[in-house]
Amino acid sequence: MTSQPGKPLLEVAGLTRRFGGLTAVNGLDLTVGEGELVSVIGPNGAGKTTLFNLIAGLDAPDAGAVAFDGRDVSGLPAERLAALGLARTFQHGRVFGNLSVLDNVLVGAHTRLRAVRPRPRLPLLGPLAELALALVRPAPVRAEEERLRAEALEIVALFGERLTPRLDQPAHSLSYANRRRLEIARALALRPRLLLLDEPTAGMNPTETAEMLAIIRSLKGRGLTILLIEHKLDLVMQLSDRVVVMDHGARIAEGLPAAVAADPAVIEAYLGHKAVGGLAEPDGAEPDGAGQGGGNQHGERPVVARAAR
Ligand SMILES: Nc1ncnc2c1ncn2[C@@H]1O[C@H](COP(=O)(O)OP(=O)(O)OP(=O)(O)O)[C@@H](O)[C@H]1O
Ligand SMILES: [Mg+2]
Repeated sequence: MTSQPGKPLLEVAGLTRRFGGLTAVNGLDLTVGEGELVSVIGPNGAGKTTLFNLIAGLDAPDAGAVAFDGRDVSGLPAERLAALGLARTFQHGRVFGNLSVLDNVLVGAHTRLRAVRPRPRLPLLGPLAELALALVRPAPVRAEEERLRAEALEIVALFGERLTPRLDQPAHSLSYANRRRLEIARALALRPRLLLLDEPTAGMNPTETAEMLAIIRSLKGRGLTILLIEHKLDLVMQLSDRVVVMDHGARIAEGLPAAVAADPAVIEAYLGHKAVGGLAEPDGAEPDGAGQGGGNQHGERPVVARAAR
């Protein structure tokens, strides 16, 4: 499963974020090579989502730096990072409930619009020009809309028949799992170079989890660079080129999935004791993402309890 990573696409150095007396992310270093799939695991509250927020420009670090494709992007807002090719999904899922499935995906593509984003020399004319183009819709605008629509349909088709029959339905009418899929579709519409997925299978049953695993695997197969937060370790073990383990905001281990799974410090921090939930036995993972020993009925969060200290 391990591939030779390309040149670094994401480089995080000494990243730190404090909330009052709590250091949620503590001097974290992390590199993701082009084409790599790196998973970030760790107990609840380890700082994983905070790390994503810092990388994706939704939060600002107290110290440290983030470089994307060799360029220092520390402090850039999320929309600038999105325009550079960095897309993320949210742990609790975020879609535009009143927009249709198709429009949700098209929203993801908006950073790539050319024809409908005129850049006149006088900044005040920008919104006026955009309004005029929206009203008149000249041929280049219509052509671009058509192209984006075709792309959106292709992306939605990645999810089989889950979303395609529901293109015109408002997102709020979708099942929870479909909303999660839609969020990923929207992120993909940005044509990202780096995709950050925060627990994409949270709340999904084993069948849905297996489907998601196949989709992530196919995205990886197309060369997309992915940074994944995931609690379902079977999935992590099957997909990851490398695994980074966080605890209390710091990186406590990093390496190949099997090596990390066998690391006593990881087992101690993550499980509290040995041989629970298959962390020490990645090869025994069920191919369908099931077998989440110790999880709830959805096979969710099998091993998230922080070790007693
Ligand atoms: N905006 C905030 N204000 C104060 N504390 C915060 C804030 N965001 C996160 N925290 C705290 O920072 C720590 C790390 O939270 P974070 O959500 O990053 O953890 P996580 O690893 O994603 O956990 P989980 O697996 O439960 O999603 C937690 O103690 C959390 O309560
Ligand atoms: Mg989180």
